[in-house]
Amino acid sequence: MSSRIVVLISGSGTNLQAIIDASEVADYPGSVVGVVSNISDAYGLTRAENANIATVALSHKDFDSRESYDQALITKVDQFFPDVIVLAGFMRILSPAFVQYYQGKLLNIHPSLLPKYQGLNTHQRAIDAGDTEHGVSVHFVTEELDGGPVILQAKVPVFEGDASDDLAARVHEQEHRIYPLVVKWLCEKRLSMSVESQNEHAILDGCTLPTCGYANDE
Ligand code: GAR
Repeated sequence: MSSRIVVLISGSGTNLQAIIDASEVADYPGSVVGVVSNISDAYGLTRAENANIATVALSHKDFDSRESYDQALITKVDQFFPDVIVLAGFMRILSPAFVQYYQGKLLNIHPSLLPKYQGLNTHQRAIDAGDTEHGVSVHFVTEELDGGPVILQAKVPVFEGDASDDLAARVHEQEHRIYPLVVKWLCEKRLSMSVESQNEHAILDGCTLPTCGYANDE
């Protein structure tokens, strides 16, 4: 049976588009049943409407605490009966209650080679540090911001003279390749998260993945 995917966004939604496109190919094991945004005019909502996917705009500005917003968010997300929840440029810190509620079903994509550059402005930080490679990570979400177990990374070179936008574009291309793949693994139940004495690991096809995820070459 096809898994039910809900995608949370705040912006342009190019990763959402990549997942929609992948899910429309025969044999993809999931379909996007709902898209939720905390920004009412996020272009990602238009992408969802164009694909006839139900949308919800839920502004954080209408709530007086992170906890009350996240409770309302759970209610909206649960209306779609999701198997998999995908954060795709959802630019909010999630409360422990939200993260625990969806533990093992919640994926995020972060534009750096985690554990490097958690937080914001990752491309500029990689340039400023003189890094020669940069990239993107898909990981399970845990209570630690950008700290959950990494499932898959893709690397890109940093060229001399790169501006942040050049690097962002190079990283985005890789994001669109790896995110639909990891979502597919979770839909197929090939992927799971184990929690042993508060130490989380990603498990793919029965194997515990190394700290930097599948196919790490170090
Ligand atoms: C992506 O680059 C994603 O990695 C990043 O937001 C962008 C969303 O782009 N996420 C984060 O920075 C989360 N910490 P998109 O709206 O075009 O998919």
